[in-house]
Amino acid sequence: MVPKIFWLRCETKKLERRSALTPSTAGQLIKDGFTVFVERDQQRIFDDEEFERVGCSLVDNNTWPSASLDIPIIGLKELATSDEPLPHTHIYFGHCYKGQAGWSSVLSRFKRGGGTLYDLESFTDATGRRVAAFGFHAGFAGAAVGALALASQREGRRLANLEPYASEVAMVANVRAAFGGSGKGAKALVIGALGRCGCGAVDFLRKIGLDEGDILKWDVGETVKGGPFEELLHVDIFINCISLSSAIPPFLTRDQLEAAGAHRRLSVVVDVSCDATNPFNPLPIYDVITTFPEPTVPVDLPQGPPLSVVSIDHLPSLLPREASEQFSSDLLLTLKEFPRRDTARVWTDAKKMFDDKMAEAAAELAGRWYGASKSRMTV
Ligand SMILES: NC(=O)c1ccc[n+]([C@@H]2O[C@H](COP(=O)([O-])OP(=O)(O)OC[C@H]3O[C@@H](n4cnc5c(N)ncnc54)[C@H](O)[C@@H]3O)[C@@H](O)[C@H]2O)c1
Repeated sequence: MVPKIFWLRCETKKLERRSALTPSTAGQLIKDGFTVFVERDQQRIFDDEEFERVGCSLVDNNTWPSASLDIPIIGLKELATSDEPLPHTHIYFGHCYKGQAGWSSVLSRFKRGGGTLYDLESFTDATGRRVAAFGFHAGFAGAAVGALALASQREGRRLANLEPYASEVAMVANVRAAFGGSGKGAKALVIGALGRCGCGAVDFLRKIGLDEGDILKWDVGETVKGGPFEELLHVDIFINCISLSSAIPPFLTRDQLEAAGAHRRLSVVVDVSCDATNPFNPLPIYDVITTFPEPTVPVDLPQGPPLSVVSIDHLPSLLPREASEQFSSDLLLTLKEFPRRDTARVWTDAKKMFDDKMAEAAAELAGRWYGASKSRMTV
């Protein structure tokens, strides 16, 4: 009999306050017969006592490496970088299945430890749609940061130091205030507007007062003609929310921006998709992931207004409580199936994805080793 247990680990990424389990979902798991261990964590948006009150067993911060190997470890974001083998079953967003920087090294830790990764990104329903995702709040918060960056630029300042908001309402009020009451008059274009992030971005832009006609909503129908797209130069904010699955022509290029010279309205690019390290990156105008302390990176251009890029890869952390509640409740049914993971489709698909990626990683690492040893022989 597979034990009904989860261990909620702390997040080690700075300023990440979200949580894969909330007191509400942990409580529902416990009612369903699960034991839930929760690492004490000052950074998490939920107090330790909230978990204690619903019957979780509190354990010390970052002690999951010493947990019994039959306890699955659940978290959200990447584990701290290390070469340590990983012998446990882990459930989190590994960000190592799409050729991201360092992907094969992460998977080699599982290979050496004998552990398994059930990547939250590979949990999909029968139609292929993600079971649980933070998309809506990512787009919502991304649009908020983009709007704040635009408001700051208009005042001749660079946006600095974002702090998580207590609620969506507080976020909208803060951004409206930065525009002197309303964002009306600003113009934005969202690509991927029919998806989760895109819907969140559009919802936010409406809430701060942009006219409907000033929110251009593009999806695959509009980009099928192939970029780069002239239209992007004529809005204040461009928000990229696509889910990238294969090589596509770039949406925006540095040559295009330079050629536009002073005839450019575009002032802020928000890359919610954050594919800067993806080999198919459609926005080859920047190459760093930005952060809450430094939310924007400038694109150095000889002419025209300043152009800032926002490429924060944990945008929903700006709304940690609401984003966690939504994500965790969407995940709950799947988590309850964990004891049947060898037959439940969501889990078997996620395991197959892991096995396939492990094989790719082994081939990649073998090739790298072979290449290195060959070059050692020729020098
Ligand atoms: N930065 C962050 O904090 C953060 C958080 C969550 C998700 N994300 C990322 O945001 C991206 C979108 O996530 P989602 O949940 O909204 O996905 P989704 O599948 O719900 O939506 C993606 C949308 O993009 C559209 N699309 C795909 N390719 C396109 C193209 N070439 N041109 C135009 N439209 C295209 C799809 O039709 C779809 O409507 C993903 O890459 C995800 O990893 C980022």
